[in-house]
Amino acid sequence: MKGIILAGGHGNRLKPLTEVTNKHLLPVYNKPMIFYPLNTLIGAGIRDILIVTGSEYAGGFLKLLGSGRDYGCRFTFEVQEEALGIAHALSLAEDFVDKDYMAVMLGDNILEDQVASTMAAFHGGAHIFLKEIQDAQRFGVAEIEDGVVTRILEKPKNPPTNLAVTGLYLYDNEIFDIVRNLTPSARGEFEITDVNNVYIERGRMSYTTLNGAWTDAGTFESLHRANQVARSLVRAGLRTPFEDSIKRRSQRNLKRTPAAGQSLPQRIRS
Ligand code: DAU
Repeated sequence: MKGIILAGGHGNRLKPLTEVTNKHLLPVYNKPMIFYPLNTLIGAGIRDILIVTGSEYAGGFLKLLGSGRDYGCRFTFEVQEEALGIAHALSLAEDFVDKDYMAVMLGDNILEDQVASTMAAFHGGAHIFLKEIQDAQRFGVAEIEDGVVTRILEKPKNPPTNLAVTGLYLYDNEIFDIVRNLTPSARGEFEITDVNNVYIERGRMSYTTLNGAWTDAGTFESLHRANQVARSLVRAGLRTPFEDSIKRRSQRNLKRTPAAGQSLPQRIRS
């Protein structure tokens, strides 16, 4: 299975924090935001990951993440020139995915659950991860009948359930044909919810309900909550091999600073 992290968009709801950087490079407790979805995908065993970003700060992602070697992965980067929506960002992954299945994660989502077994059991169609929450009107909201998802509503004023659609999705490569036939929503974006509703109509949607903490980080309130969730996960000692790799990479970068006692001329010659 291939991994895709969507880290484009303008982060308008976080201005002025996103005036001179991309939302997904902002700190969330002790790491830049994008490390959280990376941790989820890498923790599930995915090693080949595409990162889709906007053109403006794409260099920051390269500098932060490198080739992926430090994490035992291969990172590929793709630029979304215009923020035309999540489904549009995903359409840029077609060549990268080819005939494979894909795990797509929004770059501003933080998830506690381990999802490796769900990914291993995936065999086509689409799979979403739901979380029961209080303020569901900010998200895609799922209706369920007899254990089957019957419809997803995008940001409904009066949510029919408390089941938010989180920003982690599994798809087969049928998705690229579906996206080609989409039209933009009222807010002018190609919506992932429209894609999911096509899979539902075709009877090809399954779901899991998450037990652990989940949040997005796209508003001031949710960014604050993301910091709290991230802090509690770190303090609970939920270390992963990926976290150790982050530390190793930072330490290696530190070695580039002058050794104690080294004069400037010595440093220049070294
Ligand atoms: O967080 C889960 C929610 O994410 C879902 O419940 C909704 O159904 C889904 O539409 C989405 O809602 P948001 O309105 O919160 O999405 P937002 O526009 O904030 O975009 C989320 C991420 O998607 C963002 O961090 C980066 C990526 N993105 C977004 C756009 C609009 C792109 O890569 N390119 C884009 O053009």
